[in-house]
Amino acid sequence: MLMTPEATVAAICEGFGHDRTRLLDILQSVQRQLGHVGEAAVDALAADLGIPRVDVAGVVSFYSFLSASPRGHIVIRLCDDVPDRMLGADQVGCGLVEELGIQFGETTADGLFTLEHASCIGMSDQAPAALFNDVVVPKLGPGAARRLVREIRQLPLEAVVSAAPGAPALRRLLVREYGDGQNAHDLVRSAVENNLRRAGEVIFADRAANAGLAKALAMSPAEVIRQVKTARLRGRGGAGFPTGMKWEFTRAAASDQRYLICNADEGEPGTFKDRVILTERPELLFEGMTIAGYAIGASRGLLYLRGEYAYLRDYLEDILARRRVAGLLGESISGKAGFDFDIRIQLGAGAYICGEETALISSCEGLRGDPKNRPPFPAQRGYLGKPTAVNNVETLCCVPRILEMGSGWFASIGSGKSTGTKLLSVSGDCTRRGVYEVPLGTRLAAVLEMCGAEDPLAVQVGGPSGQMVGAADFAREICFDDLATGGALVVFGAGRDPLEIASQYLAFFIHKSCGYCTPCRVGNVLLKERLDRILAGRGEAADLEYLSSLAGTVKTASRCGLGQTSPNPVLSTLRSFRSLYEARLKTPAEGRQAGFDFAARLAEAGRLAGRRPVDVVAGGEPR
Ligand SMILES: Cc1cc2nc3c(=O)[nH]c(=O)nc-3n(C[C@H](O)[C@H](O)[C@H](O)COP(=O)(O)O)c2cc1C
Ligand code: SF4
Ligand code: FES
Repeated sequence: MLMTPEATVAAICEGFGHDRTRLLDILQSVQRQLGHVGEAAVDALAADLGIPRVDVAGVVSFYSFLSASPRGHIVIRLCDDVPDRMLGADQVGCGLVEELGIQFGETTADGLFTLEHASCIGMSDQAPAALFNDVVVPKLGPGAARRLVREIRQLPLEAVVSAAPGAPALRRLLVREYGDGQNAHDLVRSAVENNLRRAGEVIFADRAANAGLAKALAMSPAEVIRQVKTARLRGRGGAGFPTGMKWEFTRAAASDQRYLICNADEGEPGTFKDRVILTERPELLFEGMTIAGYAIGASRGLLYLRGEYAYLRDYLEDILARRRVAGLLGESISGKAGFDFDIRIQLGAGAYICGEETALISSCEGLRGDPKNRPPFPAQRGYLGKPTAVNNVETLCCVPRILEMGSGWFASIGSGKSTGTKLLSVSGDCTRRGVYEVPLGTRLAAVLEMCGAEDPLAVQVGGPSGQMVGAADFAREICFDDLATGGALVVFGAGRDPLEIASQYLAFFIHKSCGYCTPCRVGNVLLKERLDRILAGRGEAADLEYLSSLAGTVKTASRCGLGQTSPNPVLSTLRSFRSLYEARLKTPAEGRQAGFDFAARLAEAGRLAGRRPVDVVAGGEPR
């Protein structure tokens, strides 16, 4: 018997103990069962949870995986980020549009399919890639995409419509061959490949399970923090903050409860290294989280898993359950009286900004993923107002290795202030795309050689928020003191246009800005307009000055890391590829003649003056 939206909501809220902070999970369950979160469901949720209706609707509208209106039973999200476009995502998109008979953003008349674009889904090494609900379909060509649509149409509706998004018949059809390693695990059954090209001595080395945890529990929490500080471990999520110091601040903040959150949002386009850790080294990660919990004095940890990696959830939950049975989670861990710690997985719902740590905390609290003002920093006042340490997946995986092998061992790997190894996600124009674990301090040129990049023109280091470098920078070292990166390296071969790519990256930031502050919301639009003008051959020398000055303003006046780094595509291409800009500028003579768009200028002047241009052009007195 079909349940009403109200009854469905009531049952789901009951399952979550009517806990308002679990709103994101509740909404995802509602969406799974009802297909969308409509008016009636919003009303029922607001009443059940005792919160204003606008708060519920605000969360629904924030996350791209939630919808207030009905969508198709199968939502196809095709990644249209730079690495995918380089490998033919546009053609795949055309194939889907033709086969489905709809445009992007539309739903087929039979309600079977919705077609959407997505930003990086963490599969840049096997692009073009798409999600069919939560099933990842990598290495898509236009023909294969069309064939999949035709075959899905042959399935009986009940095989497609299911409370579980990856309904078995649908999954079998979409996943012809399992990927390598744990991608073939019974609880994963995915076509995703690891593409682990180089295992280093820290993350992907063979080791005895839980050796680091055993050593940590034999020490005091302060001693664990001291080990991490002596190893000079710095955060792998992008900002490079010293991990031991972050833990010290969190531990020192007076509170009855503290939290540890692992940031597995991995939304920076071109980054996919955490995906491979989550697939092949989840035990190492959970061990690292447990040690971190012990060090900071937390009894609760959260793994914030990006919605695009939902296909790994059951597998990760199973590992957590096994760790509970083995006494590695729960009360008195490994017999250590007084140390209780457990981990909950919080699934994201498609919002890049939620990778930013304060936005991530908001999201874990069941709110819109809006960044928060700092101070107070999460270490003082984070999740549910309590001191919280947020760390990247890779950072937490370094911790058991430091405890197990010693901080001296870790510090001996790498260079100078950058100790240990770094995982790099390499994609773009090279023959061996995938994950490389290299000692920090490795030269970019060496990585380019490893990945089979022939005669590269440019490399985007650190995703759109990082920097675009050219051959003059290939001898630089990948480390915190030189070429810093959260992990993404996108290689561009001869024939690619760095300025066109910078424009695409700006479009990405415009789309992802939460819109709270003006420099980020408006500044990036103005930057893109001016860059596009140059790309169209209508730029003037003064535009270069305008670009760098405005970029500087956006960087300094934005509230969070998104806005503070969003002008980097412009700034770094101005630095590394200035001659490409200059070659596109109009000469002064062109400026006065052919290139000068008199009609457009006039129209603009008329608009500003509140007069219709036709009044002027017609030659009569302006009315
Ligand atoms: C827009 C934006 C997105 C981010 N995305 C991620 C992410 O996906 N994963 C991550 O670990 N850190 C991300 N960060 C950095 C986090 O805010 C934070 O610095 C990090 O999780 C801290 O962990 P670490 O010290 O171990 O690096 C992002 C920052 C910004 C501004
Ligand atoms: S910088 Fe951008 S993303 Fe960050 S708070 Fe401001 S508008 Fe939002
Ligand atoms: S999956 Fe498309 S850029 Fe990463």
